[in-house]
Amino acid sequence: MAVDLTQVSSVDTEPGELPPTMAAWVIRQEREGEPMDAFQVEEIEVPEPGAFEVVVRVMAAGVNFNNVWAALGKPVSVFGYGDHPEYGHHIGGSDASGVVWKVGEGVTRWKVGDEVVIHCNQASYEDPEVHGLDPMAAPSQRIWGYETTWGSFAQFTKVQAQQLLPKPKHLAWEEAASYGLTYFTAYRMLMKQAELQAGHKVLIWGAAGGLGVFATQLCKMTGADCVGVVSSADKGKLVEQLGAVGYIDRSEFAGMMRKGDETPEQEKERFKASRAFSKRVKELLGEQPDIVFEHVGKATFPTSVYTVKPFGKVIICGATSGYQLDFDVRYLWMRQKQIIGSHFANAWECLKANQLIEESKIRPVLSDTMPFEDVARAHQLMHENKHLGKVAILVGAESEGQGRTAEGAGAIRAEVGA
Ligand SMILES: NC(=O)c1ccc[n+]([C@@H]2O[C@H](COP(=O)([O-])OP(=O)(O)OC[C@H]3O[C@@H](n4cnc5c(N)ncnc54)[C@H](OP(=O)(O)O)[C@@H]3O)[C@@H](O)[C@H]2O)c1
Repeated sequence: MAVDLTQVSSVDTEPGELPPTMAAWVIRQEREGEPMDAFQVEEIEVPEPGAFEVVVRVMAAGVNFNNVWAALGKPVSVFGYGDHPEYGHHIGGSDASGVVWKVGEGVTRWKVGDEVVIHCNQASYEDPEVHGLDPMAAPSQRIWGYETTWGSFAQFTKVQAQQLLPKPKHLAWEEAASYGLTYFTAYRMLMKQAELQAGHKVLIWGAAGGLGVFATQLCKMTGADCVGVVSSADKGKLVEQLGAVGYIDRSEFAGMMRKGDETPEQEKERFKASRAFSKRVKELLGEQPDIVFEHVGKATFPTSVYTVKPFGKVIICGATSGYQLDFDVRYLWMRQKQIIGSHFANAWECLKANQLIEESKIRPVLSDTMPFEDVARAHQLMHENKHLGKVAILVGAESEGQGRTAEGAGAIRAEVGA
């Protein structure tokens, strides 16, 4: 049956009852490739919530890099993970705001009608790690809407009850849907793993991107000075507005980027460019950074290890430019630097971070809000690095600005061109 995209913002049932089917953007294994081709709208059965699960009517969804990877089927296909083998489809989307529509057996903290945002970490209640170590350490740990299906690019999404957080009342649906995955990741990276403190100096790669806009605000809020790396003056202005003491346009230091097949001579030249970059960072911060905030990977990692201060920390959660990293390890051991891996956040960290949004101490940064029909296009733009800050998708919300029930500073609008 063809799906009528003009009807996506309405549903035929009252809260408490699910319709039989819904519109969803679906990736299937046989069409993995460019996001524009991989994502297609289909009519899909609405899932029933199991024990300790909740079905949420999605009012808005957030776009993240993870579903660029899901579309491409790279570096691995998502179809081998989570509940994909059971259902055979991938409904992506790891950020959402919405309304609790039906609760499963055992759910007591949330009721039908509650307005929520959703964090994207899932783990089994039966894993002991969940109850004493960290849910992120559980063997069952999965990112909802990436390693699982039933994500937020659909009229309804199925999640674990522990994923729900109160929707900040002063935010519109699209603002509330835009920040969770990248902000909560940046929060754990800096506040927990890197132990960010007032007075620290921080270098942030991709500072105008999804993670970077929150890393920059967290530094400002904590009293740490940060410099953001960007690829245009417009993005530079945005990161200064968010609280960075300065920015570096990476195109001025294009030679520092590691490709991986350099000859010894080329490697010498590359290192020269890295040194010049490192000098500029020091000029802007007054000293070498205590922390380098990494997610670019292969291209920048050697420069990150070189640039961070002795005893400093390179904290990394991703590898947009490639995940096979190589670097001169002498700069690591001689200067006793640390490399720390980080991945999303646990429910407690998400709750604490969400409170900072409720208090407007950290604000979403929204560059664009698109209609449901633009899910594939939004991911294609992200794949081509033509976006800025965060992009939200309207699903149940008919237009921007709906859903605010209290006064307060909304999202920062990143209106400058990417
Ligand atoms: N493990 C986790 O929990 C987790 C969570 C969130 C994201 N991630 C990963 O982290 C990465 C970034 O995510 P995001 O949401 O921040 O993406 P994003 O919005 O695309 O921002 C990343 C920024 O990195 C910069 N960049 C891209 N390619 C680069 C290159 N070759 N050299 C230097 N800078 C480059 C770009 O900024 P400029 O062009 O302005 O420099 C871009 O704005 C992705 O790979 C994502 O999958 C992991």
